[in-house]
Amino acid sequence: MKTHFPASILVLFSLLTLFQFGFSLDIVQRSCKLAAKRDPYVDYKLCVKSLRANPSSKDATFKDLVLISIEQSKANATAIGSEITGLLKGGGKWGKYSSSCLESCLEVYSEAVSDLKLGLVAVKMGDYETANTEVSAAMDAPLTCENGYNEKDGEVSPLTEKNGGFFQLTAISLAFISLCQ
Ligand SMILES: *[C@@H]1O[C@H](CO)[C@@H](O)[C@H](O)[C@H]1NC(C)=O
Repeated sequence: MKTHFPASILVLFSLLTLFQFGFSLDIVQRSCKLAAKRDPYVDYKLCVKSLRANPSSKDATFKDLVLISIEQSKANATAIGSEITGLLKGGGKWGKYSSSCLESCLEVYSEAVSDLKLGLVAVKMGDYETANTEVSAAMDAPLTCENGYNEKDGEVSPLTEKNGGFFQLTAISLAFISLCQ
């Protein structure tokens, strides 16, 4: 089969594609790359995915992205809180110890939501030190929640995966904040 494309056009096209992948990363990709370089806990793909979930990330400044990232963490903490409430409502299948673990997880996640709200306020005011403190506090929630289960033999946390996901999201927020400091 004969191609109608002159070779030079194909070469040009390949070069443009290369440029696109190599150089013209957008603000989300560039910021996530920086964050991942800064902090080994940052998962580049999750970072891009979670920021893109908010359409305004497209024409965002870096500071907007910091806010969007914290909002994502906050939304996650809120959703995890609702899931825990749902589990507790599930009724009798939890023993006494497990329900008390779930209740304390619910409490730490609702504190995390408050911490993240304060973190958002701090970023808006340009107070990155306070933002760092607040987001770091929120980041303790998954560890505190898991630890409750680890204190008793045979207790299996139903929240391990969610705790891990929230930890990763807050790690992204924290890396973004530290890039501002
Ligand atoms: C929280 O974020 C993680 C990504 O780290 C995601 O996998 C999980 O589904 C989210 N949880 C909720 C309840 O939204």
